[in-house]
Amino acid sequence: MTLSETDALDGLRDALGQLRNRESVALRLLESSAKHSFDPDTELDWEAPFEDGKWFWPPELVSLYGTPLWRRMSEEQRLLLSRHEAAALASLGIWFELILMQLLVRHIYDKSATSAHVRYALTEIEDECRHSKMFARVIAHSDTPWYPVSRVHHNLGRLFKTISTTPGSFTATLLGEEVLDWMQRLTFPDERVQPLIRGVTRIHVIEESRHVRYAREELRRQMMTAPRWSQEFTRMSSGEFARVFSVAFVNPEVYTNVGLDRREAVAQVRASAHRREVMQQGAKKLTDFLDDIGVLRGVGRRLWRSSGLLA
Ligand SMILES: [Fe+2]
Ligand SMILES: [Fe+2]
Repeated sequence: MTLSETDALDGLRDALGQLRNRESVALRLLESSAKHSFDPDTELDWEAPFEDGKWFWPPELVSLYGTPLWRRMSEEQRLLLSRHEAAALASLGIWFELILMQLLVRHIYDKSATSAHVRYALTEIEDECRHSKMFARVIAHSDTPWYPVSRVHHNLGRLFKTISTTPGSFTATLLGEEVLDWMQRLTFPDERVQPLIRGVTRIHVIEESRHVRYAREELRRQMMTAPRWSQEFTRMSSGEFARVFSVAFVNPEVYTNVGLDRREAVAQVRASAHRREVMQQGAKKLTDFLDDIGVLRGVGRRLWRSSGLLA
């Protein structure tokens, strides 16, 4: 056998190994989905009234926490801000999930429908459908508005979900899932928080941990096998998402709706060392992982830094 034939055989063996690994991950995720999936409509008590004095989001995770403006606000106004920020994050969650569902559909379009990998993607889409309905219900139930992202971000999302590459899609997925997931892990056990919000975040954390696993494993494989231009594109586009993400994270309309000066509030959030710390801590697990698989290099790394999510 010639040297190039040996190389070709090794390549084939690697590819087969990766496919087997992809199937075994998906099978485990399917098993876990069969055991631990929830119907929010029946699982949560939607009739119970909200409790006075309870938060809709842990105060330390509210954007203005610890700023001079926060210190001037009454307790009632702080609670109200947490209510609106929870609605803004639920709105952001729906936006992400709609994008993600389209990315997943595009990801499986050319793959065998009987594979566990495709069956799991379909299961994840089912999860996201329930989540988006749950978030919409919680927004309506909290008597808060729906907070869409800006028109520019909305249209960037439209373009991205139509043309992005596979590794680009999974990087964006992780960015959307992991920072919110970190916040939700602090929210559901917190007894200062409204029971309905605790229930919503608990369901979301349990089901999302499978999504994070699926996306991480796929992205790791993709970053090893994708062509060089695609890997480079992933580095740059992920840095750009990180910038969009950090700006779009809380819709500034929330400040107006609780009676604050929007420009002053936005300026104070930007200047807040506590907020920067929260966002960097929230992104830490993700940025460590992305660093490990080679996404945070060169221009991409500089963009991540400028987003404020990477120290
Ligand atoms: Fe979700
Ligand atoms: Fe998800």
